[in-house]
Amino acid sequence: MSEAPAPLRTDDKAAAYGDLEKRLRSVVAGETSAVARYATAACMIAETFAPRFFWTGFYLVDPDKPDELVIGPYQGSLGCLRIPFGKGVCGTAAQRGESVLVEDVHAFPGHIACDIRSRSEIVVPVFDADGVLRGVLDIDSEQVGAFDETDKAGLEAVCAALLTAP
Ligand code: SME
Repeated sequence: MSEAPAPLRTDDKAAAYGDLEKRLRSVVAGETSAVARYATAACMIAETFAPRFFWTGFYLVDPDKPDELVIGPYQGSLGCLRIPFGKGVCGTAAQRGESVLVEDVHAFPGHIACDIRSRSEIVVPVFDADGVLRGVLDIDSEQVGAFDETDKAGLEAVCAALLTAP
């Protein structure tokens, strides 16, 4: 395994999220394709924090099976294709409609190990302008405890930027 990248200082991390949100808003402004917005967000988040996140992507609510998530745009190794609501970290966040921060995935009952390198994870719900859940943003790290409240706040703002695109 490669040497772990140094954790970002809280101030630097908050500033990086603020800058990312601004750049993302400007890149996706006027883009009507949700897939284009999600793919762009996955790329920009991963690049902003490279090499800290090894998986960054979206699971989307399947319009044909509204209690199931299906893989959306992502950056990283092969992800599971479908996750039912209530299963794993993604399905838990989707069912609760709130972010779930997991310090150690081995301690999270029902965690779905798409990649055994995953040691910590954060999942943030994505809502549309009417407050309807459209999917979740899932980010994984090889380090235990890689995510904190600064990541949660930053990623919730990033997801809000996605829905407010016209
Ligand atoms: N670990 C997730 C599954 C998705 S992958 O990590 C890409 C979960 O427990 O929901």
